[in-house]
Amino acid sequence: MTSKQKYLLDVCREENLLRIILLILLAIATLKLTFPSPVLAAEISSGAKIFQNNCSACHIGGGNILVSQKTLQKEALSKYLTNYNDDAIQAIIHQVENGKNAMPAFKNKLSEQEVLEVAAYVFQKSEQGW
Ligand code: HEC
Repeated sequence: MTSKQKYLLDVCREENLLRIILLILLAIATLKLTFPSPVLAAEISSGAKIFQNNCSACHIGGGNILVSQKTLQKEALSKYLTNYNDDAIQAIIHQVENGKNAMPAFKNKLSEQEVLEVAAYVFQKSEQGW
């Protein structure tokens, strides 16, 4: 083999390697796009359970059986919930931890992680329109 042939062979190998690397990167990117972050998904599904067990008695389907206009719909949250328009999840966390008027505080009932999970769930549902 001449040195020129050898050189060409080397270039081909490198190109193949690059192609394989690109394919792998593409595969990873596609997987990431197809399956949303498993962490967020897990948070929302356990958030759903926490909501079911602690909130749905008063907020079934994102409504409010006690103060009918103060629902968990996006429009109501943005109108009635303090600081919702600045930091939605933080505002929901605050309401859940401290309660307000007829809504009990959950600070001593739910862990910080559970409050975060249920707040993320409420936020997601409100964005989807329940
Ligand atoms: C005993 C009934 C009751 C339970 C249980 C309850 N809430 Fe509430 N919730 C209320 C009432 C009443 C309000 C309206 C409070 C006010 O502003 O006067 C409210 C308001 C809210 C708001 C603000 C809505 C708005 O439009 O202003 C959020 C967010 C909220 N609740 C989330 C939750 C979550 C999450 C849970 C479960 C961890 C929960 N609530 C459990 C009664 C309840």
